[in-house]
Amino acid sequence: MVERSNWKSNVGFLLASIGSAIGLGNVWRFSYMAHQYGGGAFLVPYIVALFVAGIPIMILEYGLGHKEKGSSPLSFAKVDPRFEWLGWWMPIVAMFGIMLYYSVIIGWCINYLFYSFSLGWGADPQSFFFKDFLQITDSVAILGGIRIPILFSTMLVWILCWLICFRDIRHGIEKASLIFMPILFALTLVIVIWTIFLEGAPDAIFNHYLHADWSKINLFATDPLARSEAGTVWAAAFGQIFFTLSLGFGIMITYASYLPKKTDIGKNAYITCIVNCTYSLVAGIAVFGIVGFMASNQGVPFEEAIKGGPQLAFVVYPKAISLLPQFNVLFGLLFFLMLVIAGLTSGVSLIEAFTCSITDKFDWPRQQVATAVCILGFLGSIIFTTRGGLYILDIADHFITNYGLVAGGLLECILIGWILKASVVRNHINRYGLGVAKVWEYFIKFSTPAILIYLLYLSISSDLAKNYSDYPTDQLILYGIGWMLICLTLALILAFRPWNPSKLKRRHRPEDDDLLV
Ligand code: ALA
Repeated sequence: MVERSNWKSNVGFLLASIGSAIGLGNVWRFSYMAHQYGGGAFLVPYIVALFVAGIPIMILEYGLGHKEKGSSPLSFAKVDPRFEWLGWWMPIVAMFGIMLYYSVIIGWCINYLFYSFSLGWGADPQSFFFKDFLQITDSVAILGGIRIPILFSTMLVWILCWLICFRDIRHGIEKASLIFMPILFALTLVIVIWTIFLEGAPDAIFNHYLHADWSKINLFATDPLARSEAGTVWAAAFGQIFFTLSLGFGIMITYASYLPKKTDIGKNAYITCIVNCTYSLVAGIAVFGIVGFMASNQGVPFEEAIKGGPQLAFVVYPKAISLLPQFNVLFGLLFFLMLVIAGLTSGVSLIEAFTCSITDKFDWPRQQVATAVCILGFLGSIIFTTRGGLYILDIADHFITNYGLVAGGLLECILIGWILKASVVRNHINRYGLGVAKVWEYFIKFSTPAILIYLLYLSISSDLAKNYSDYPTDQLILYGIGWMLICLTLALILAFRPWNPSKLKRRHRPEDDDLLV
């Protein structure tokens, strides 16, 4: 049986978990959602989602991984071998659903880091991004061949991740987090402070970011259309909480499995959630501030200046950087370096969740598994480096966040709440440290699953209500392929050979008794 490593310090564990949580999603996904879904009013569903789903499920994932000392498949199999498939669902979604395109976006950030030296995106960053950089095709049906600069930067991302994941947890991910996370916090702080002193920034922060349009979140509106739109906002806020806290990926279960016996699980869960969400709120100030600066500099309304999805980082930011009165190159370098670091610390956790699942199941050497996983991952991500890759990326993101993560979270609540019994996990957590209150059990058994079922219903009904006759046939085919892949993954997982019962026995390591400080 392969020996499992463990964290050297609790700070190392916390920084790695926070590093997994803080990623590309915190910087622009959060900011754009805040803008699109009612400015300050979006913060209400976001914070509600943090308290009713984020924190309870973080405690659940840490508690389960720590109690069962295993990756998500092993932990679920120990609870009940019939549910091993659910444990596989999560790291497979993380590795093949997310990391394949996530690595390509980190690759874009590396490309842009280099463009920053000469402000290489020129006077029209929008046309540069789509026409010169991505060379995007006209339709999703045309992949249009590989973009070599993107292929190389993506390869670099996989090499960097491999160098970190290849080593055991203490010498790989923990060491990297101890170096990267302080740099990430320092870079973010510099960018935020720099931004708030730019002309036009305070106006955008107060009048667009912190200004609330309550009508967008009113689930009890009399107008059915307004009600349905409010439902979309609430669903988006919950999806964002799962994505940003890396929940439903199997990552936090795996990370907690490397903790020694005497660990304050409750405190670690609260710290991870609070630091991650505070980071998003603070990063939002920088994003809204820079858009406000650009709008005021160009004399256009804020609404016209802000753009969604990848455009926020790769079109709006470059444009604003070029307009800065001084030190443009430095700002560009700091911003894209911040994104690269945020992306890498999340990327390694996505790989780790899958690598650890394989090593737990087959007892293969970690180094060989990590190498094979990174090679396969790189090969799989090549499709997103093609000229039509952005279309596929959009569809993958839609399926994964709206269904994959929320469904994983729901099923783990049901499994732990009703089959293992939430009280067993709570008693385990409360053996040491701050502990969690009894109300957590009610969340895991009743409120959180009920809310997640309602959100899945909202997502499905909003997808079904779309007028598909307006969609091009090739996009419809891709949607169909997306659904087929989900069904195929499920079928393969269900057919998986059950765990050998002797392996389900608890493993005890002498260092488990050490107290982490
Ligand atoms: N939690 C990571 C992010 O927000 C995946 O990007």
